Amino acid sequence: MDALPPRRPNGRRATAALYRIRPATAADVRDVTAIERVVFSDPWSQGDFGECVVSGVTFLVAEAHGTVAGYVVAHAAADEGEILNLGVAEAHRRRGVGGALVTAVLARLGAHGVRVVYLEVRDSNTGARRLYESLGFSEVARRARYYRRPVEDAVVLRAAIGAAGAAVRR
Ligand SMILES: CC(C)(COP(=O)(O)OP(=O)(O)OC[C@H]1O[C@@H](n2cnc3c(N)ncnc32)[C@H](O)[C@@H]1OP(=O)(O)O)[C@@H](O)C(=O)NCCC(=O)NCCS
Repeated sequence: MDALPPRRPNGRRATAALYRIRPATAADVRDVTAIERVVFSDPWSQGDFGECVVSGVTFLVAEAHGTVAGYVVAHAAADEGEILNLGVAEAHRRRGVGGALVTAVLARLGAHGVRVVYLEVRDSNTGARRLYESLGFSEVARRARYYRRPVEDAVVLRAAIGAAGAAVRR
């Protein structure tokens, strides 16, 4: 009926819009490292993230009201890219932040000529796998006992992307 308010296509997107995705700076390294230490059992160090700021890899953060909520790191060589790290602080999960970070990094990689993107994920990490699969990634290989603390297989995911960063069929 005409009196009904217009339907919102996706409530989550409205929430994700509160977060600004931008390139990380040296000032973000401490906050990113703090999230990393909580999220991963085998975390990257502050020095690792500092290197990412100066080395030219793609390093983005999601920020809301001055707080870093999540981050993503990816690198590219010719037309191949790899997502090296992705983390979202517990308090900001399931609001679309992880998806927005991956979408933003794929857009940047696509704009720089990357046409295929790989990443590794723990076999048991169903949340991350679901996120990546929803963005067009699919399993192409496994690496036995790839991770430590605890030892676990890695699943290698791959997505073919276009210039705008969205997954394409190939
Ligand atoms: C994986 C991670 C980055 C997801 O971040 P997030 O901001 O919560 O992700 P989003 O809100 O964008 O989720 C998008 C979709 O992914 C899937 N998903 C994400 N987390 C999930 C979970 N814990 N369980 C099941 N599905 C999940 C869902 O389909 C979700 O959509 P929905 O909320 O509408 O159901 C976050 O949980 C995290 O930092 N985990 C620890 C670190 C990690 O695993 N990094 C990836 C290593 S490769």
